[in-house]
Amino acid sequence: MGSLADLTRGGLLYGGDYNPEQWSREIWRQDVAAMREAGVTLVTVGVFSWALLEPERDRFELAWMDEVLDLLHAGGIAVDLATPTASPPPWLALEDPETLPTDASGHRLHHGSRTHYCPSSSTYRERAQIITQVIAERWVSHPAVVLWHVNNELGTTCWCPRCGRAFRGWLERRYGTVEAVNEAWGTTVWSQRYTSWEQISPPLRAPYLLHPGLTLDYRRFTSDALRELYRSERAVIRAVDPARPVTTNFMGFFAGVDYRSWAGEIDVISDDSYPDPADPDAPSQAALTHDLMRSLAGGPWLLMEQATSAVSWRGHNVPKTTARMRQDALRAVAHGADGVLSFQWRASPTGPERFHSAMLPHAGTDTRVHRAVQELGRDLRALSAMAGTDVHAEVAILFDWSSWWAAEEPAVPSDRLRVLPQLRAWYRPLWEAGIGVDVVDPHADLARYRLVLAPQLYLLDDEAVTNLRGYLARGGCLALGPFSAVADGNARVRTGGFPVPFADLLDASGEEWWPLPEGGAGLVPDAVGPTSLGTGHAETWAERLRLHGPGAVCELRFEGGDLDGEPALVRSRDGGLHYLATMPDAALLKRWLLGLLARRGIGPAHRVPAVPDGVEVAQRGPFTLVINHRPTEVDVPLSTPHLDVLEDVEHVDHVHLSPGGSIVLRKALP
Ligand code: GAL
Ligand code: ZN
Repeated sequence: MGSLADLTRGGLLYGGDYNPEQWSREIWRQDVAAMREAGVTLVTVGVFSWALLEPERDRFELAWMDEVLDLLHAGGIAVDLATPTASPPPWLALEDPETLPTDASGHRLHHGSRTHYCPSSSTYRERAQIITQVIAERWVSHPAVVLWHVNNELGTTCWCPRCGRAFRGWLERRYGTVEAVNEAWGTTVWSQRYTSWEQISPPLRAPYLLHPGLTLDYRRFTSDALRELYRSERAVIRAVDPARPVTTNFMGFFAGVDYRSWAGEIDVISDDSYPDPADPDAPSQAALTHDLMRSLAGGPWLLMEQATSAVSWRGHNVPKTTARMRQDALRAVAHGADGVLSFQWRASPTGPERFHSAMLPHAGTDTRVHRAVQELGRDLRALSAMAGTDVHAEVAILFDWSSWWAAEEPAVPSDRLRVLPQLRAWYRPLWEAGIGVDVVDPHADLARYRLVLAPQLYLLDDEAVTNLRGYLARGGCLALGPFSAVADGNARVRTGGFPVPFADLLDASGEEWWPLPEGGAGLVPDAVGPTSLGTGHAETWAERLRLHGPGAVCELRFEGGDLDGEPALVRSRDGGLHYLATMPDAALLKRWLLGLLARRGIGPAHRVPAVPDGVEVAQRGPFTLVINHRPTEVDVPLSTPHLDVLEDVEHVDHVHLSPGGSIVLRKALP
């Protein structure tokens, strides 16, 4: 079976979504010529072409696509050929309205947009398989096709009666009996006990809060149902083509699907990334998402979609400067992407995305954006040796979709303690220091990590507890953030002093969650502990903890407020387990995390001795990406001579960057 490595023998991939069905033959020719000029090597074709490939049931019009593929091939451009199943044609919706999804109020949605499919519709699935079969058979031997692309951003949640039936089947396979479901969810609360399968529905809108056991399992079910759609199309492709790899594009930290449970079935992990140029935190958030993708892939992944400039789906769409576009692309590569593709090649004059940027804007080739696109093509060619290289990470951040889902149900102590903001807050200091980080499953083998961070891991099932305790027993170091290890695998609160599964190792435990009133609380180093952490502030969250015995070392205490003098940060005496029962200000959080790195002897793999503020550094294999986010020039020190890979010059002890500039260095041979 093929993999990304088969596609990147010639270097990094470059290109975008290409929607030739929107254009005339004359334009196709111009497109291929301009793609060649821009250094494009791979385009995704066919994502939204169902209505053109099959204008009516079982009548297929495929010749136009033959022509497109031939033209691309003649131009030396490879194709990621998509199944068009993300947007069924209007005739299918009218022929069988049950192919359409239903919302949480039980109302069926209409066609006229895209992603209007119910994952449980047998008609939808059958028609999706048929069009997939037609496409696979027609173009299996086409020399342009190097990758198959199933659907697009699979992610539709549906609450229809068919999904309800499928959900009950899913529950039956998981739990066996209705009694076991009652037991797992704890349905004695609010008189929700079920006495037959038929009584269980999707979590449709109800007068008040839904049962968190039901909603969690419905999310798990939906993720599995969508994976089943992927699998069913992949099976059709595989039967026709056992060789070429198959992908489907992810959406980063997307809440609708547990990508980790999908990753093993996807030959090329690919992601769509749209960092907001107006958000100062976007670069570090994008880097974290890239690290998630690399971790899901266990190596290089593909940036399937990004924007060359503005998107059109935010309220206010700030464009990317040329420098910003280059930064975003190079960052993805530095975090393991083996290619950069954009949505889309040529800007659409019609449709909802008529104001979305493209590689070739409405204004044509003689434009800032298109020149930047050509330049990026040249840069990526010059960086071809980066393809296939590794990112070395000694730090793992634990992240789990079930935990995310369960933590963000309503009616928790505070809706201000959110999973992604916590993850991002803990990641940011590591990103600022240019430290390699993997984003991993709490069930994963953690032996290779010197430090494991769990910024917010609310739900932790018994296997994951055993895994983490095993990691600690073998000398690992685990830092748990607030409100972690609270619930078991069924989202049932673990009873006892928290963090219940680790309190014995900590020799301390908590008894009350304490969201802070206005003004928050101070944080001060404990008198007997190391004072290097300094003082700080907690605005939002606290917990009431108690130390039990000499096994616990208190490093920070609350100052002022209701918990004055109580522990806020505790670790086990051996330094293995750390429990932070609050959300400190960014500066204190940074001091603490950098202190943990120092204790564990973890340093960056790059050779930038002190990364200046406002400078981003990322290391991939022997390559170092340096980005200057400052509005002014900056000198970045180097501890050893480096070659500037793009400019082909040597920098001995520092490198100079213009405002917004990014460079890629490689350690010079002695
Ligand atoms: C993605 C989608 C593309 C395009 C893009 C615009 O979510 O896959 O088809 O809509 O967003 O940013
Ligand atoms: Zn449905």
